Amino acid sequence: MASRSYVVSASTTETPRKRYPGGAKGFVEEMRFVAMKLHTKEQANEGEKEVKQPEEHSVPKWEPSIDGYLKFLVDSKLVYDTLESIIDKAAFPIYAEFRNTGLERSEKLAKDLQWFEEQGYAIPEPSSPGITYAEYLKEISDKDPQAFICHFYNTYFAHSAGGRMIGKKVAQQILNNRELEFYKWDGDLSQLLQNVRDKLNKVAESWTRDEKNHCLEETEKSFKHSGEILRLILS
Ligand code: HEM
Repeated sequence: MASRSYVVSASTTETPRKRYPGGAKGFVEEMRFVAMKLHTKEQANEGEKEVKQPEEHSVPKWEPSIDGYLKFLVDSKLVYDTLESIIDKAAFPIYAEFRNTGLERSEKLAKDLQWFEEQGYAIPEPSSPGITYAEYLKEISDKDPQAFICHFYNTYFAHSAGGRMIGKKVAQQILNNRELEFYKWDGDLSQLLQNVRDKLNKVAESWTRDEKNHCLEETEKSFKHSGEILRLILS
């Protein structure tokens, strides 16, 4: 079978226009490219990071506990409450584009926590990883829309990918396969995600290259905060 070959022009006499991986497909693809590299190989095939924290091992190796999972759900709810109220308030007009996308998780998590309560579990107060992340999101949302949009993208899209794998695994291991509302969307999830990708691409079209780079650079912080919250599952 003939293999496709690509010729890359590498002339040294002209200044090459810098290419950004994924950029030809739109800015979301650039954000995705940066995010995928920050996964470990155990988390996702495209990952490149070395495993250093417990949640960076492959999900099938996890030994979750209900107490840890509840802490994770409570802190996740605080983060989604915060993201969704920032979008509602829309300190920058672009945030208003992301109202009612169908990806919102706050009400779903409220239902799940109510269910756990009805089963007799004590619902913990939010803990430091969630509180710290929520404070950070509030702080940047008022002054740095590019950074905020990076967290918005990573949080909702991570949940639709690795988040769902985690939900399935934890349900099998400790919830008798009960599927939580957190992992259910009203409507076709891939269509909802595509609608948000289209809006993100449109918003980023008006950004300068420096603003785009600033947004991409924020991805590491998003992984750091979300990683700390994920780690609660294994606590
Ligand atoms: C246990 C932790 C995690 C696991 C197992 C995991 C796993 C995955 C997998 C399997 C994919 C799909 C790859 C594909 O399209 O083939 C993915 C996508 C993604 N993940 Fe993660 N991930 C984890 C944590 C995170 C974190 C902490 C973030 C950032 C906060 C993140 C952000 C993303 C993003 C933005 C995508 C792209 C989604 C898309 O293309 O629509 N992930 N992840």
